[in-house]
Amino acid sequence: MDIVDRIIISEDDIQRRVRELGKAISQDYAGKEITLLCVLKGGLMFLCDLAKHITVPVAYDFMSVSSYGDATESSGVVRIVKDLEESIEGKHVLIVEDIIDTGLTLSYLVKNLHSRNPASLRICTLLNKPANRRVDIPIDYVGFEVPNEFLVGYGLDFKQFYRNIPFVFVPKKEYIQNA
Ligand code: PRP
Repeated sequence: MDIVDRIIISEDDIQRRVRELGKAISQDYAGKEITLLCVLKGGLMFLCDLAKHITVPVAYDFMSVSSYGDATESSGVVRIVKDLEESIEGKHVLIVEDIIDTGLTLSYLVKNLHSRNPASLRICTLLNKPANRRVDIPIDYVGFEVPNEFLVGYGLDFKQFYRNIPFVFVPKKEYIQNA
């Protein structure tokens, strides 16, 4: 693909790691049911692949959030655009994210979700970008630590496109500059 400058995580590596995470989650939640909470839109691809490798009963629910303020610097104030359909009270909830960057989105979400009294609340992210972290977030399952670069693919978008690409890549600078 012309837009790709460098592949950061290949499709094979993602699929191998997703299988490992699914196995670990299945062991940790043995005897329980899990509600996978997908944070749209980035978490969707990861949720679909991850769920195939979880062997305990799994339900899905979806949330969509957006940050207030300008797009380049997150304000930490998050607006719920689409809320969960089901109550999570008494349920084991596993948040599924594509990437944790500043941590501000999840920091808000975790507080919000805790107030709904789930039996447990854990976080699973495919990618962790610790260089930009502004609030400490305890992450239970991490696929890969990634460098502080603009990443696209496997859920991560560039102007809403390329989320469907099955690997994670750095786009060519001229694409970003000319966009
Ligand atoms: C991305 C990602 C996380 C959030 C992480 O979503 O999916 O939800 O940003 O960033 P943070 O740790 O700095 O808060 P985005 O707002 O880009 O929406 P999207 O999932 O629809 O792409």
